[in-house]
Amino acid sequence: MTATRDPGAGGTPDPAAGATRTAPRRRRLAVAPGRYRRFTIYALVALCVIVVTGAAVRLTNSGLGCPDWPRCEGEQLFASPDDFHGMVENVNRLFTGVVAAAVMAAVLGSLVRIPRRRDLTWLSLGLVAGVIAQIIWGAFTVWSELRPEFVMGHYLISAVLVANAVVLVQRASSGGRPLRHRVPPTTVWLSRAMVAVAAVVIVSGTIVTNTGPHAGDDRAVRFGFEIANVARIHAVSVLCLLLLTIATLAGIHRAGGAAWLGRRGVLLVASIVAQGALGYWQYFTGVPALLVGFHVAGSVLVWIAVLAVHLSIVDRPPLESSAEGSRSTAGGELDSPHVAATGPAITAGGGG
Ligand code: HEM
Repeated sequence: MTATRDPGAGGTPDPAAGATRTAPRRRRLAVAPGRYRRFTIYALVALCVIVVTGAAVRLTNSGLGCPDWPRCEGEQLFASPDDFHGMVENVNRLFTGVVAAAVMAAVLGSLVRIPRRRDLTWLSLGLVAGVIAQIIWGAFTVWSELRPEFVMGHYLISAVLVANAVVLVQRASSGGRPLRHRVPPTTVWLSRAMVAVAAVVIVSGTIVTNTGPHAGDDRAVRFGFEIANVARIHAVSVLCLLLLTIATLAGIHRAGGAAWLGRRGVLLVASIVAQGALGYWQYFTGVPALLVGFHVAGSVLVWIAVLAVHLSIVDRPPLESSAEGSRSTAGGELDSPHVAATGPAITAGGGG
């Protein structure tokens, strides 16, 4: 079966494409939209888990547990079982294989999804590019003996990957037709500012980390900033994030968005407040590793919650059925990843 392209996905018009010309073997490989959505969720979960396993490497001082790359040490591919730090670093490296498999499944699934959507293929290819970048960056991080800019970059590439995966999940959960904002332009800009400030919170957090004691190895170089100053900048950016979040949510509610926003708004505010409290707690107790581990996991949840609220301001149709895709024969560039209607805002929401 030729996985026919969704008319809303920017595919080339192909009147000949259809169920009647489907090769049976390829039809057996076909993935329905609902199933493909699950692939994208697995990829997102794997990408979140590896942020936490990566933090575990740092927090157990195992950053140089395997001082070589790609082999663990010298000619040895894996660390010996009695080498705790080597094993922790090894498990993290092996988990990269799980992540790679999950993102490959997202790419391959997008190719046999019915209807096929070009936006989903590009977004899943973005995940593959990001994972390759992480593998290369991880090698440089080890070779640089954990220089802070490399450790920081390692987290930040993951944050970009998580964002890519969140967009992929959202698009795989809905139809591929043109996008339309369902809130007024002011709220759209507030929401964009909220995402930008969330990025500032994350970047400033990684600066605090790479100034503080959890380097991943006692020999690692640190940024020479005053820890109290960078922590203050980090905390002030969190306060700005909270204010922008409340303003964005108020705008969404004024536009009648309570129904389609669901619990996303409450979850976002709760996660920022909880994460902020955890941040102060760890700061005033000398950054114990376990609390920092929860803070890293919490940072991923806040990031996903921010993106989920931001993506909810765009109205999208419900997920297509695969039968609809098999019938589709018309084409057109309707689903460019950035086609957001800039015309008059609509205030009622459909099934985005
Ligand atoms: C929305 C709330 C917050 C988010 C999303 C957030 C995010 C982050 C991130 C991404 C990191 C770097 C993690 C890493 O590189 O592995 C970090 C580190 C840190 N954050 Fe936050 N943070 C928040 C609130 C706070 C607050 C209010 C404080 C209070 C001062 C704080 C204190 C810290 C400290 C001390 C570190 C360094 C921990 C270490 O030694 O590794 N955070 N944060």
